[in-house]
Parts: sequence; C-alpha cells; structure tokens
Amino acid sequence: MRTVTLHPDQIYTGPLILVNARHPLRDPVQPYLVPPDSRYPQITMERQAARLLSAALQAADPDGAIVPVSGWRSQAQQQAIWDDTLKTEGEVFTRQYVALPGCSEHQTGLAMDLALAAPEIDFIRPHFPQDGVCGLFRQLAARYGFVQRYRRHKEPLTGIAEEPWHFRYVGVPHARLMEENDLCLEEYRDFVRGNRPVCRLENGQTAQVTYLLCPQEPWDIPLPDGRCQISGDNVAGFFLTVWRDIP
Ligand code: DAL
Ligand code: ZN
Repeated sequence: MRTVTLHPDQIYTGPLILVNARHPLRDPVQPYLVPPDSRYPQITMERQAARLLSAALQAADPDGAIVPVSGWRSQAQQQAIWDDTLKTEGEVFTRQYVALPGCSEHQTGLAMDLALAAPEIDFIRPHFPQDGVCGLFRQLAARYGFVQRYRRHKEPLTGIAEEPWHFRYVGVPHARLMEENDLCLEEYRDFVRGNRPVCRLENGQTAQVTYLLCPQEPWDIPLPDGRCQISGDNVAGFFLTVWRDIP
C-alpha cells in the first residue's frame, strides 16, 4: 500500500476528463504534443494518445490510407474554426459540428479527426467510412484506448451531431467498457459509480474502475501496490483504475 495526495484542482486533468458545452476545459496547461503520423508533423496529440493512435493505425492500416486531419487545437484555433464555420455554414450547422471555443475535446490533445486519404478533405466533416480500412480501424480502436465520441443515438447527451471521424483517447479499459456497455463519456461517470466495473484485458490482467468524489480539501488516499491510474473527470471527482493479474 502507498498513499497519494489528491488536490481539488486535479479533477480537471487526465485522460477521462469530460469536455463539452456544460463542462469547459479548465486546465490551462498545454499537453506535451507529439504527431501520431510522421507524414503530418503539424497534426499533434498528447503524447500517450499519439503513441496509441500510431499503434492502432499501424495495426489497421499499415499502407497509410488513413490520414490525420485535426488533432490538438489552441483556444484561438477553435475560435477561428467556430467563427469561419458560422460565417460560411450558419449557426445550426456550426452548433452541430463545432464545439464552442473552450469546450472542444481537441483543446485537450486527446481527440483526433481522421479521414480516408483523398485529393480534397473536408476539414469540418472528413470522410471516414464504415467499411474498408476505416471500418477495421473502428473495430480495433477500443483495444488501443479510443472511442468514437459522437454517435447518432447519443446526440441528446453529447450535444454534437454524429461524427464518424472524431476519435477520443480515454485509455484501454475505459474504451472497452464504454463500447461493451454502449456508453458515451457523459454516461460513464454514473455507470462507474453504480457498478465499479471490471474489464478483462487481452494481456491476462483485469482493470477495475471506481469513482471518488473529491472533497474540498487535499485528500490522502491509499493505493494498492501495482499499476494504478487516477484521472480527474472535469466535473466533481476522480476515476481510480487498478490493474491486477488474474490469479
Ligand atoms: N467537432 C468537434 C465537436 C469539436 O469541434 O470539438
Ligand atoms: Zn474532432
């Protein structure tokens, strides 16, 4: 056993933060950014997300037919995308497909828009079909910790229209649990609170997820030995993930 001290402002950081119109990004620190595809050095993501996206792309699409379109964005870039889209496409379209500046997952470095390579790629709505290499990537994504973040049947919860091209890194056990239980990130916190779910991983380990409400003061919590991860939820607390070997 060991003890870690959690501070209330840590709820705004980590791979499981919920960022949407009701929960703006609060952590001002720019993540360490890396391009997942060396052919496109300007398109970057948070380091761990980039490493796993590279691995997923290598597995699904070794010939490189899938291209990154948009990864990390600054506040100014998200504002410019919002302003341009508003001018050219109008408000209804913009609210469907562009997150409010300050409320975009792209600002976390944890999201990437992908497209099937083509001479012309639509920046706001890239073509990422259900079949072929894109379909294969979609099937493998959760094994590498990614979820398709905006699905049609979750539109009332996410506030964003279906986006088959937008993938969000959350981490392997969480992506698997969200996929197996048909949950979007808006639903995941309540699911974890109610179920303390266990994910069986391909490497023979399990990962158990629990939710901890954050008190007002810094707070010491005991952690078991072995691999653990704590991520804020950007709302009110933390997800604690504990990996164990299956005996
Ligand atoms: N297209 C997504 C919603 C964004 O702008 O973050
Ligand atoms: Zn996107």
